[in-house]
Amino acid sequence: MTILRLDSSITGEHSVSRTLTNAITAQLTAANPGEKLVVRDLVAAPLAHLTLPEFADTSVIDEFLAADTIVIGAPMYNFSVPSQLKAWIDRIAVAGKTFQYTAEGPVGLVGDKRVIVALSRGGFYGPGSPAESFEHLKTYLSTVFGFLGVAPEFVHADGIAVGPEQRAAAIASGLEEVVALAA
Ligand SMILES: Cc1cc2nc3c(=O)[nH]c(=O)nc-3n(C[C@H](O)[C@H](O)[C@H](O)COP(=O)(O)O)c2cc1C
Repeated sequence: MTILRLDSSITGEHSVSRTLTNAITAQLTAANPGEKLVVRDLVAAPLAHLTLPEFADTSVIDEFLAADTIVIGAPMYNFSVPSQLKAWIDRIAVAGKTFQYTAEGPVGLVGDKRVIVALSRGGFYGPGSPAESFEHLKTYLSTVFGFLGVAPEFVHADGIAVGPEQRAAAIASGLEEVVALAA
């Protein structure tokens, strides 16, 4: 079994989402010592914007298809995913490989995978909050992976930009959500 870890935060060792992806992969590999861990740092080794010739390179989608569990660090940048993560999504959402169009509509083809997303957001976007309609990170990732056939599991760290106390509390609650994930 293979775990694929993807990080997309630009803040390196200060990154909240990387703290959470680190905890998730440590927990998963501790519970399943035989698991292979593949790490793709989308900031250290960014993928170019998608171009037609890039479509011919199947290495990124092959890596995704070979993984059983995908762990994604997803900080909110300008209300959505970092462009580094979007470039990766553009390579794995491919008709005929990860979804297909049928007479009944689109069907996802990767429903056998587990996807765990660590969200870190500067503010608060929960139901009923004033900024709820600005949220295009969790909703977008839910839509994309749902389209591919898998409902992601999310862990959250919110209000990171509010101040040091909220940042510490958000990391602590995010790590609690990690502990609560199924092995
Ligand atoms: C370029 C950039 C854009 C950001 N845009 C938003 C935003 O639109 N909404 C928000 O709530 N926080 C925003 N933030 C704050 C980050 O979501 C927050 O700091 C989060 O912890 C970043 O994840 P990281 O700690 O893994 O880097 C932004 C941060 C950066 C660096």
